[in-house]
Parts: sequence; C-alpha cells; structure tokens
Amino acid sequence: MRVLVIGSGGREHALVWKIAQSKLADKIFCAPGNGGIADLAECIDIKAEDIPALIDFTRREKIDLTVVGPEVALSLGIVDEFNKYKLKIFGPNKKAAQLESSKVFAKELMAKYKVPTADFKIFSAGGGDAAKKYIEKIGAPCVVKADGLAAGKGVVVTKSVDEAKQTVTLMMQEKIFGDAGTRVIVEECLEGQEASILVLTDSKETIPLVSAQDHKRVFDHDQGPNTGGMGAYSPAPAVTEGLFSEILDKVIYRIIDGLAKEGIDYRGVLYAGIMLTKSGPKVLEFNVRFGDPETQAILPRLNSDLVEVMLATADGKLTKFKKFGGLKWDNRACVCVVCASGGYPGEYEKGKEIFGLDEAEKMKDVMVFHSGTKSVPRPSSLVPRFVTNGGRVLGVTGLGNTIKEAIEKTYQAVDKIDFKGMHYRKDIGRKAL
Ligand code: AMP
Ligand code: GLY
Repeated sequence: MRVLVIGSGGREHALVWKIAQSKLADKIFCAPGNGGIADLAECIDIKAEDIPALIDFTRREKIDLTVVGPEVALSLGIVDEFNKYKLKIFGPNKKAAQLESSKVFAKELMAKYKVPTADFKIFSAGGGDAAKKYIEKIGAPCVVKADGLAAGKGVVVTKSVDEAKQTVTLMMQEKIFGDAGTRVIVEECLEGQEASILVLTDSKETIPLVSAQDHKRVFDHDQGPNTGGMGAYSPAPAVTEGLFSEILDKVIYRIIDGLAKEGIDYRGVLYAGIMLTKSGPKVLEFNVRFGDPETQAILPRLNSDLVEVMLATADGKLTKFKKFGGLKWDNRACVCVVCASGGYPGEYEKGKEIFGLDEAEKMKDVMVFHSGTKSVPRPSSLVPRFVTNGGRVLGVTGLGNTIKEAIEKTYQAVDKIDFKGMHYRKDIGRKAL
C-alpha cells in the first residue's frame, strides 16, 4: 500500500514510524512532514490544510490510505472531500469533528447525553456583559473558553474575577481569536489529575488504546504558561482499571451513542481529556485526532499493525478486527520528553544546530521523534545536519519495564542531545511514581 500522512509534528513522526513497521505499507509520504520524518517517508511540500492539493496528490500518486494528524484539516471537512472521490482516509468527517472544533457543540452534546463534565454556561455574540455577570456570580477560579479552534490557546484557567472578565473582553469584544471567540463558555474549575483516554471507533465498535498523561505547562511542577505539551507517559497509573471502565461507560460510549442518535457517524481516533476529580472523572475536552505528545508515548507500546487497524476503522470493520484478536500491547511503560527551543512557548529563534541525535538514537528502546526540525544537506558528508525549526523540537522517547526505568532511560537519552537554548521539563512522569 501507498500511505500518506498529513501533518508535520512529533505525532506525525510517531505515526510514520509505526506505519513504516506495517507489513502492508510499501511506500509512505508525508505532507508536509519535517526533517526527521524525511528519513522514513517522502515529504511533499503541501500544507496540511490545502485540501484540493492533497486530493490532487492522492489521486495522482494512487494513495491507498491517507491518515490525518492535525485537527484543522478535519474541521475543514477533509474526510468529506476525500469521500466524494472515494479516496480512503482515516479520520472523522466534518460533522463529527465539531466535537473538537466547537466547544459549544461538545458541551451541548455532553449535557444532552449525560456525559460528566464541568458545569458551564454558554454566551453568544453580544453576551459579553452577561458572561461577566455570571463570572461575578460564580467567582474565581473559573475557566473561560473560546468556542472555536484557537491553536491550543483558547482556554484560560483564571485565578481572579477580574482576569476572567478581562478574558471575556479579549475573546468576545477584542476578538483576539477572531470568529473562534464569537461564542464563549464560562465553566467551573475542576481539580485533580488529568488523563488522556484515546479510542479507535467506527461508531459500531470501539477499541481503547492505552492510557496516557500529558504535561501542558512549560515548567516543572506544572508551573508557567500552557504549551502544546512538554512530555507524556503511558500508562497513567492514576487511571485504575475501575476508572478506565467508568470513563469508557460514562464518557466514550455515551458520546459515541449520542453522536449516532444525532445522525453523526464517527470513524477515527476519539480523544477524551479527563480530569480525575474527587467526584469522579469529568471531561475537559474532546479531540478528534491523536494527541501530541501522547501519541509518542502510546505508539511505541503498540505491538499490532497500525495500518491494519486504521483500515478497519475507516472501512467500518472494527467488529471483525476485534474478533480476530484486536490490539496487542507491550506491557512496558513509555515516556516522552519534549525538548523545546529557548523562549518557547513565547518567542523563539529557529535554525540552531542539533547535536547528539545519533548517540541518543543508538540507545536500545529509545526513539527520537522530531517535532520541529529541518534537515540541511551537508555537501561534504552523508550525515544530514538537523537544525531547529519550531517551538517544540524533539520528543525523546524511551521504553522501560517500569515508569521509573522508562524515565531514567529517556533522560539518559536527553542528556546526549543539545542545541542552543534547549529546555525541557525534568519531571516528566514523576506524578506516576
Ligand atoms: P483544552 O484546550 O480544552 O485541552 O484545555 C487546556 C487545559 O486547560 C486542560 O488540559 C486543563 O489543564 C485546563 N482546563 C480546561 N478546562 C478546565 C476546567 N474546567 N477546570 C480546570 N482546568 C481546565
Ligand atoms: N496533548 C494535547 C493535545 O493533543 O491536544
């Protein structure tokens, strides 16, 4: 098969890496890919959101399966467009993708189908003053969320009433996120540990992946601003077997059933961001794609053929797939530490040479997934030279018999890598110990 992966981050590198192990995949392309991905796939210069160009490429190159990494293409309806041309694609259609592209849609669906989530109120255009009054009533801390996609910046956990009200002004009146902030949700602030539960579903059958936990804040002990994710580990021991089935029953199956009752077919990965509160698991958000960096910690544990299960998902044949054995997992733990550019998540420079990649990659059970790198050809040498090309640069990933071993192995690998300004969290996975 000829497989195309859409996207350019660490998640896509992990997807390409796993797809490259499939007995079904002969040739892999990635649009647009990155420096590290180029070792395993042919990177093509098409943006992840350029649906017409992706369709042209897929038809011309006779691609058998397209796998969508990021949410924007899904929310724009890439799956619906591919379906029109009978091109096979892994991911949910536009209506189903609203679960991520509209927080109002997700919240209303959760309320209707009794999926546990933070108490909330929705405010539509012109409702800024009403939102502020509501904030005064519920007090701080509270959470203000823009309805639409805002590149991971649309959620503000506010510590004071003033900050919450200012956030409403910024989103609804100053429109810092454009139309994404036309509607705003104000919700109760939940406390607890967070966990990411990902499943594969074709609406008729649902197969859970292993649990994971992300680290969103930039500094150790969850301090500093939110990022795209500074590291992840799997499994998340906080998600006990009992909690896992509770989350499947009360969150995953209810929302998929709910979508079906609304006439919406869901095929792809469904990701529930869960807060494990004292009064039970509650949904923080849904994503309609693989998580980044959770995927980097989950896929190294997968023993099954990823292409096979993705095909079964896209074809609506997960029931059969499950009957023939389902997914097989490696019992070991996996940890991914993100190495970021100096200044990230604020301003940062690009183009810094990365040292030590070979040495880290040589280590047993270590994978280095590239998030933001570019390979620069060196005329006098066969060894490519990688430079930084994004805020999150690398996801250094290691497997170990226990979380503790995986943490040690991963940080040994991180120690071998360096680039100017590199920073990373030193406490990835510590919560699990
Ligand atoms: P999201 O972009 O929806 O993933 O939200 C980003 C982060 O904001 C989550 O991972 C949580 O850490 C935090 N968050 C979102 N909603 C709430 C809430 N109701 N209570 C506390 N934290 C929240
Ligand atoms: N790890 C969070 C996300 O992928 O949205």
